[in-house]
Amino acid sequence: MKPSHDEQARLHELALKLAANELPPGWELVQSSNFARVACNREQQIFYKEFLPRSPWEKIKALVRGSRAGRARRHSDALLQAGINAPANLAWGKLPGGSKYLFNEAAAGDDVTTWLTSVLIERSGEALAQRRQLLKILGKFVGRVHATGFIHGDLRPGNILAEYKGGRFLFTLIDNERTVQKLPPPGRMLLRNLMQLNMLPPGVLSRADRMRFFVAWRRQMRDLDSIEAKLLAAQAYHWAMQRMYDKGQL
Ligand SMILES: Nc1ncnc2c1ncn2[C@@H]1O[C@H](COP(=O)(O)OP(=O)(O)O)[C@@H](O)[C@H]1O
Ligand SMILES: [Mg+2]
Repeated sequence: MKPSHDEQARLHELALKLAANELPPGWELVQSSNFARVACNREQQIFYKEFLPRSPWEKIKALVRGSRAGRARRHSDALLQAGINAPANLAWGKLPGGSKYLFNEAAAGDDVTTWLTSVLIERSGEALAQRRQLLKILGKFVGRVHATGFIHGDLRPGNILAEYKGGRFLFTLIDNERTVQKLPPPGRMLLRNLMQLNMLPPGVLSRADRMRFFVAWRRQMRDLDSIEAKLLAAQAYHWAMQRMYDKGQL
């Protein structure tokens, strides 16, 4: 539900403070890329994101494609309409310096990297079973996203939140500014998303784990022929390992 006028005015006042580096009670800064400032209020379950310019071209690009804040907002709405969980938008606007902000609801749960590296670490018993369940349902979820024609702009496991509820995992896609919708999704775009998801070291995600994800993903991608699907899986893995090696993360 869209917030009332008063609520939007209150959030705009709040944005002015957050943008001026004030942190009103209950607000804390959250780690983000260099192109954003992110803060959250855990109690109220609200996130604030200020879109900092990526390059001097950004203003010109925005004239054609709309601002990054506007795109993030529209793509989250489009995902929600397609039945894919994304944070609900609350309020947005422009700051005195010209950059844009967006408030949205907190997505429930922890991100997939946290689940795989800090929560489900034991390789036996309940944790192992849950880990396998997470990878399988994640594959199904991402497969459904792709089969619907959505490709996320930055599908690192940190941009997928997972909540464990009623014995199953529910996923939410955040950071949707560069999401695109194309049917059928082009192979190179699928490859890029699968590469981004593979950006976890072999010690965290084994080949068998990656297969669990992939088999579930493949089931949703009925139009993909099996040779193409196998190639995508192999190339995504090798590309991710190469990138991690180049970044000194392996
Ligand atoms: N709506 C949200 N719900 C839950 N966590 C969020 C939300 N928005 C941002 N975050 C947290 O803040 C971090 C940075 O936000 P994000 O939109 O991914 O910025 P960046 O573009 O810098 O990657 C995310 O990795 C996530 O941990
Ligand atoms: Mg992000």
